[in-house]
Amino acid sequence: MGDTATMESGYVFDTSWEREHGRLLALEEIYDSQSRHRLTELGVTDGWRCLEVGCGAGSIARWLAKQVGAAGHVLATDVDTRFANAHGLSNLEIRAHDLRTDDLPDAFFDLVHARAVIEHLPDRDEALRRLAAATRPGGWVVIEDFGIEGLGIEGFGTEDFGIEGFDIDDPTDPAAAYYYPPGYTQPAERLGRALRAAFGAADVAPGTGRRLPQALTDVGLTEVGAQVHPSVLTGGDAAFLPLTLRSLRPRLLATGEVTDMDIEDVITLTKSHGTTCIPNFMVIAWGRKPV
Ligand SMILES: C[S@@+](CC[C@H](N)C(=O)[O-])C[C@H]1O[C@@H](n2cnc3c(N)ncnc32)[C@H](O)[C@@H]1O
Repeated sequence: MGDTATMESGYVFDTSWEREHGRLLALEEIYDSQSRHRLTELGVTDGWRCLEVGCGAGSIARWLAKQVGAAGHVLATDVDTRFANAHGLSNLEIRAHDLRTDDLPDAFFDLVHARAVIEHLPDRDEALRRLAAATRPGGWVVIEDFGIEGLGIEGFGTEDFGIEGFDIDDPTDPAAAYYYPPGYTQPAERLGRALRAAFGAADVAPGTGRRLPQALTDVGLTEVGAQVHPSVLTGGDAAFLPLTLRSLRPRLLATGEVTDMDIEDVITLTKSHGTTCIPNFMVIAWGRKPV
């Protein structure tokens, strides 16, 4: 499972998996609009120096490079840069870099952004301290991570498969929070347990998002805020969840909590055209380094 760069980093996803690029593109498709909206609101503009950490397939890094123009600069880092492509943007530098161990310039960037990265690191507070240290006084740190546990929803996912017959306003109806159509409840619950066990074993903290506002305050940032923008996906074009489950399949099976058929059942459900799915909520949180 995996190749050297990401095995050494402890990253739970196997970046050498043949469909990992597609999985990252699917993630961008769901979450980029929220990121772009928030970064625009914070004022990213001509001349800014930006750091995009754990840039994955690089869409936000390229978007930032266009916003900051020729007078600005974007450094996009990742422990494995194979999917990051600058698409000819001369103000975008892509660099292999492990946030846990490799140096960053001190008090340099106007903006530091990391999406779905901090939750994967064993020492999340230290990672945030490093990012705050790399930000210039007056600059912004923007962190996004999944926040599902903080939203009062049982189980790993927040998939609401949009089948009629439950009362979303009735708090005693478990289906109001977490619903699968008949026949899928047991596989989905087993899958939820397997995901929790696999992530726990890899020291991934899927609830990191809800702790971000406090964590950003704790590293000395001010003007801290946070938001969630859930998307609603329809089956058939919801590629992120099926690809994520396929990528994690060996780790999920190794937990002993789930069968291959359970995983395939849930994948089939998410891909069905009759399915409506609310993917896991990404919390976007920001804070400013005091001047
Ligand atoms: C779930 S992907 C998110 C990619 C991108 N930020 C996005 O949201 O589209 C997490 C990324 O973090 C990278 N990563 C994992 N551990 C890292 C580390 N220690 N230092 C830097 N990047 C890391 C992975 O290689 C991967 O590209």
